[in-house]
Amino acid sequence: MNITIIGLGYMGLPFALLLAKAGHKVTGYDINKKKIKLLNQGKLPFGELGLANLFEESKKTRNFIPTTELEKSDVFIVSVPTPEKNHHIDLTFVLNAVNTISKVLDHDNLIIIESTISPHCCKKIIKPILDKTGKKYGLVHCPERAIPGNTLYELVNNDRIIGGLDSASALRAKEIYSSFVKGKIFLTDITIAEVCKLTENTFRDINIAYANELAKICNDLGINVWEVIDLANKHPRVNILYPGPGVGGHCIAIDPWFLTEATKTSKIVPLAREINDAAPYFVVDKLQSVLNENNLHYNGAKILVLGLAYKANVDDDRESPAYKIIQLLKERKAEVKVYDPYLLDKSDFNNLKEGLAWAEIIILTTNHSNFVEQITKEKIKDQTIVFDTRNCLTGLKTHPFYYVL
Ligand SMILES: NC(=O)c1ccc[n+]([C@@H]2O[C@H](COP(=O)([O-])OP(=O)(O)OC[C@H]3O[C@@H](n4cnc5c(N)ncnc54)[C@H](O)[C@@H]3O)[C@@H](O)[C@H]2O)c1
Repeated sequence: MNITIIGLGYMGLPFALLLAKAGHKVTGYDINKKKIKLLNQGKLPFGELGLANLFEESKKTRNFIPTTELEKSDVFIVSVPTPEKNHHIDLTFVLNAVNTISKVLDHDNLIIIESTISPHCCKKIIKPILDKTGKKYGLVHCPERAIPGNTLYELVNNDRIIGGLDSASALRAKEIYSSFVKGKIFLTDITIAEVCKLTENTFRDINIAYANELAKICNDLGINVWEVIDLANKHPRVNILYPGPGVGGHCIAIDPWFLTEATKTSKIVPLAREINDAAPYFVVDKLQSVLNENNLHYNGAKILVLGLAYKANVDDDRESPAYKIIQLLKERKAEVKVYDPYLLDKSDFNNLKEGLAWAEIIILTTNHSNFVEQITKEKIKDQTIVFDTRNCLTGLKTHPFYYVL
């Protein structure tokens, strides 16, 4: 079977290489010419655990062909971005992809939408475009659930939901996914699959909002929120996530808006978004109190922000709250520099040591493992204020100027 993946991003490329490994002939189509050129030169456009090995294997089997020309195929899998605009989904990339597919569509082709989409998108927006071709086709939505940093493992091992326009489409898709997925595969209606994906990420956003609100409550009470959450989670039916500098990434920070865009009845979902979007303000205000305690102020202070990525051990800085924190610190006239080992082109230092030597104040925004492992009391200047928004710098627990969110 010929399978074409449309969009070779954080999700599409690992997925394409897993399909190639499973023995399918996979074409990877992307409009980004630089990315295709890089892949054709044998180089990966981004890092991901295990991806390099899989890419090397695909060179030997020749089962994966990157291209900028979309040609006929048995199956088309759409994995293009779905950004948010004014609290609504921006379907520009999906519509471009579907319109391009419709130009080469043949009878009995199967189209799989992996991109996160809003409710009724498949039936009301994508189907009418494909219907215009006059071809008989199958359509499913199989939302992606993998986590960057462990994408390959999760693509293989997570359970999957396949929503079909009809059961024949869903069964065809199931056969493809079964060639490499070890998790269970559940078949359902196409709109249920759309809503299910959004429901999952919205659940996490609301849970984090609760944690961020607890951080403020515990701050007012003068107690440690992290200890409260850890102990509360000892309850067999409680699982509170942790507070932090805010929610970032291409999913949790935007999917709740897609879930609620067509309804006016939701109260908790927009409220959770508001709470999480306000987290950077709380970080900067709490650091302000830390500075007051130490007779310091933002004006002219040399502040090192550690981490631009929205989560640990990845180079993805989309929607990262670190940027809002940097903006707020600069508005308060601090001298701000940043360091992220995964985003050196956006960093002000070549290595951590240089950054630590420069800083008077450190804010840790991303809990990258190498920060956790490398930042010890000996490596920072004695008087450095360290404000850890992730409660992860265990090597600094005895530093007299170490504070957590
Ligand atoms: N990254 C994640 O953690 C994650 C997790 C679950 C779901 N998703 C969803 O998966 C989808 C893809 O996300 P991603 O993070 O892989 O995106 P990405 O930005 O990393 O990659 C998307 C790729 O699509 C290409 N592209 C855009 N328009 C195209 C078109 N018309 N034709 C061909 N290629 C096109 C881009 O050049 C890019 O290479 C999104 O809907 C996202 O919400 C992402």
